[in-house]
Parts: sequence; structure tokens; C-alpha cells
Amino acid sequence: MNRLLTLAVLVGGLLVVSSVTAQDAKKPEAAGKPEAPKAKEKYIIGFSQCTVKEPWRVEFNRRLKEHAEKAYPSVQLDMLDADDKTEKQVGDVKTFIRRGVDAILISPKEAAGLAGVVKEATEAGIPVVVLDRDVTYQGYACFVGGDNKLIGRAAGKVAIEMLGGPGKAKGVVYEICGGLASTPGQERRDGFHEAVEKEKGLKIIGGLDCDWKKDKAHSVTQDALKANPQIDLLYAHNDPMAHGAYLAAKAAGREGEIKFIGIDSLPNEGQRWVKSGELTATLLYPTPGEVGLDMAMKILKGEKVEKKVTLPTRVFTKENVEKGGVEVKVEKN
Ligand code: FRU
Repeated sequence: MNRLLTLAVLVGGLLVVSSVTAQDAKKPEAAGKPEAPKAKEKYIIGFSQCTVKEPWRVEFNRRLKEHAEKAYPSVQLDMLDADDKTEKQVGDVKTFIRRGVDAILISPKEAAGLAGVVKEATEAGIPVVVLDRDVTYQGYACFVGGDNKLIGRAAGKVAIEMLGGPGKAKGVVYEICGGLASTPGQERRDGFHEAVEKEKGLKIIGGLDCDWKKDKAHSVTQDALKANPQIDLLYAHNDPMAHGAYLAAKAAGREGEIKFIGIDSLPNEGQRWVKSGELTATLLYPTPGEVGLDMAMKILKGEKVEKKVTLPTRVFTKENVEKGGVEVKVEKN
């Protein structure tokens, strides 16, 4: 397990900078000669959150609200919860456009379904900062979130270590996906497969879309256990699903045979479950609200921001969880 510590690979910058600046994206027709907006006494920022059905999003909102109150007394932050529905979220963003808010923060339910309304806001001259899940329209001002491909690859490396090490790993890996219409679902799957498929002794099965939900992962795992006499490791795209799977395995008396890997690492969820031995590992997915608001405020004050701000990740196992986990660094290919 010590080798897990060496998973922390090479250092890379946390900020990924693209050549497109927020100002260019905000007013495509005025690219090259952005006007510095005049400072206002009060800013209204609309925040469209896709759901608060999962604890990670409750924490995301709490931290964003606290940051807004402490750091930006001139900001009125209006939050709308889309109740896990793409159509409701489209309506929420349209409401912000109609109200003429100064900027919009959005954490979209899905990549394609929210692209149109992000474009509409951008074309209406409202800077949009996209948080955590990306959209298929790329003309918005700024994206802030974790590197899900890197997280998927790092989870794959953890899985390989747990199943015998590179070149020697053996076993059956069952995968439970988050929402596959969202970029974290797609990238956590792709990064994991990229790492694990190199190992000839490993077989990946499963791959059903459980939409990030603990109860769905629980029932999918019940079926998986009946259909598969051998499962050595279960990789779920978030901690609630990994824990739902663990509980199903426990009820079937098979939790001892399976290693469980999840993503998010909230102190009260993933990290706690790693400490208790229910999950074998969890990878950190930081909530992006505070940095997202900082970016929106810079844009409103006429400062240039990076088009893409990538938040770091860490891996937590029983060996390192008390010490705050180990950083996963950006690999140089
Ligand atoms: C919460 C959540 C997290 C996950 C993120 C991906 O809604 O499912 O558990 O890491 O969304 O966007």
C-alpha cells in the first residue's frame, strides 16, 4: 500500500490557461478591445445550482454563500436550485437573463442541455462562469472545476495498486457511473479506462449510469452481486454511490472481498468512510464556488482571467487520511 504514496506524480500548475480571455468571450464582436466596466456599488450575481440532492452540492452552496458574505459585501448572490432537472435549470438561467443580473454562475446538470442558455446569456453581454460540469458551448467567460480526466486516471492507478501493481494486477473491476450526460461522468470514466485497460489481468464490467445517486448505486450493486460471483474492486464516480455499493455488498456478506473507490472526499462522507474502512480510497473533488465567485468579480471589475481554472485533487487512503491525503499531480505525457 506504500506504493500508493508514490501515486503523487510530477508537479503541474493548478491553473490551466487558454489563449481566450474572459473579456473576449464576453463580447465576441468586440474581441481585442474590451471596455473596462465602471465599478458599481452593488452587483447582483445569479447562481444556478443543478441540484442540492447530494451533500457535495449542499457544501458547495454553503461555502460559496459564506465567501460571498465575507469577501464581497457589495454582492447580492441570488441562488436558484434546478431540482436536478435540465429544463428547470434552463428556465432559471433565463430568469437571470431577464432580470439583467451582472454575472451568472452555473453548475449545469448536463453538458448539451445547458449549452444554449449559456450562449444566450453570453450573447446578452452577461459574463457566465461555468462551475464543475462543463457545457458544449465554449464561448462563456470562464470555467472553474476539478480535472476529472486526471481524477479518473488517478483512481485507475489506485485500483491497479490495490489489485497487485502495474503489470501484475489481476481481477474484476465493477464500475458505477455518475450522470453520463455530464462532463465529470464522461471524464471520470474515460480517465479510469485509460489507466486500467493497460492492465491485461484486469477486466472492467458494469458502467451503468446511476446519475450520482446512492440509492441507484445500491440497487445496481445488488443486481451486480447476483450476476457476478467475482468482483474484486468497485469504482464509483462519487462517494455516495461508492458507499451505496458498499452497503449492498455488506448486506450480501461480500464487502470483505471488494475494495471500494469513490470521489469527492467530503470530511463527513468519503474521508469518514475511508477512516472506518468502508471505502478503500476516495479522491478529492473540491467545491468550486469560492474561486468561481472570485473569477466573476475580477471580470466585473474589468480584469482579465484565465479561461479555465483547474482545481487540485488528492487521494485519501487509510494510511494517509489522518494526515490530509496525498496530492495527485498533473502528469507530463
Ligand atoms: C454532486 C455530484 C458530486 C460529484 C459532482 C460531479 O451533485 O454528484 O458528487 O462529484 O456532482 O459533477
